[in-house]
Amino acid sequence: MSDLLAKKIEKQSVKEKTLLRVLRGEVLESPPIWLMRQAGRYLPEYREVRGGVSGFLELCYTPEKAVEVTLQPIRRFGFDAAILFADILLLPHALGQGLTFEEGEGPKLDAIKDMGGVAGLNFERIDQHLKPVYETVKRLRRELPGETALIGFAGAPWTVATYMVEGGSSRDFVNVKKWAFARPDDFDSLIDLLVRGTVHYLGGQIRAGAEVIQLFDTWAGVLPEEEFRRFVIAPTKRIVESVKSMAPDVPVIGFPRGAGVFSEAYVKETGVDAVGLDSSVSLTWAAATLQPVCTVQGNLDPVLLLSGGKPMQQAAHRILDALAGGPFIFNLGHGILPMTPPEHVADLFRCVRGWRA
Ligand code: CP3
Repeated sequence: MSDLLAKKIEKQSVKEKTLLRVLRGEVLESPPIWLMRQAGRYLPEYREVRGGVSGFLELCYTPEKAVEVTLQPIRRFGFDAAILFADILLLPHALGQGLTFEEGEGPKLDAIKDMGGVAGLNFERIDQHLKPVYETVKRLRRELPGETALIGFAGAPWTVATYMVEGGSSRDFVNVKKWAFARPDDFDSLIDLLVRGTVHYLGGQIRAGAEVIQLFDTWAGVLPEEEFRRFVIAPTKRIVESVKSMAPDVPVIGFPRGAGVFSEAYVKETGVDAVGLDSSVSLTWAAATLQPVCTVQGNLDPVLLLSGGKPMQQAAHRILDALAGGPFIFNLGHGILPMTPPEHVADLFRCVRGWRA
């Protein structure tokens, strides 16, 4: 390689956003940080915007307001990435499923019970329905600081299907599991529709300017091994392949929450560029088993942010000591809780920025 070319590459990589660098496998002296659910009710400025709309969905579908709440945690803390403000349940909504968010109760959907319900969903509605979300992404790319990466996202098919079939959040997943176990071929047609819908939706986000994609598989951990392979790994692999063929430079972070030791097969078989770890994953195991294959992200327990202080700082240092020697993104093991004091988030940010190997 000529000296000139080497210099050019070095200059480019120094200018490139830190999140993108680690997603390409670089190890940085000071790893990037963003937090799942970094926009939300724990911030007074979010509650103010939220108070000015009729409901959560209106916030998601109003680009001006969705841009504002996406930017709030960037302005306040200076995270290395912004995540599009939207929800994983906008896709079933776009497919025609009834969806409401009741105050303090979480999402309610008109439950899909069988193939008749799947037949009632309409793929053709997706783009028209989700246009405001693409507009939010477009505006964010213009408004974000040059060093902040923009993450687009979707729910992974299994997790989205749990909400679609249960009609909301669930404790035991009896209805969706009964369907998946007893009639897996039928259930596959729902998963297939979600794979195609998700690829379409992510394509819209990427064309609008999303630079990274995260797939949230919040309920990946409730399936036995065979079904984990069929309904978590296989559909995720199809989505990753499609994203790669549309946009080879857009990295994909998979978050198979609760997957435990199945995470190894997940990273090896799906082709994700990075894996999000929940707080239960062993750091030494992740460093030895997952990090040689891909970038890892995680995994501070969000409850540590409630009291903050020494226990939070010590736990953050343990994570950094174990994982920052390889390609690593600091994050939580799950989303920020609504009762989190924002000052503790600022303290965590300083703690991660100040850490050196
Ligand atoms: O800052 C961000 O992370 C960006 C936006 C975002 C939201 N939801 C906003 C939101 C993202 C990435 C999500 C993902 C999401 N949504 C997941 C996967 C991640 C996870 O937390 O496991 C899931 C399972 C959902 C579905 C969902 N949305 C539920 C179960 C609920 C109700 C529970 C709750 O926290 O209120 C929501 C509502 C929701 N999504 C809120 C926000 C800010 C709160 C609604 C409000 O402000 O009234």
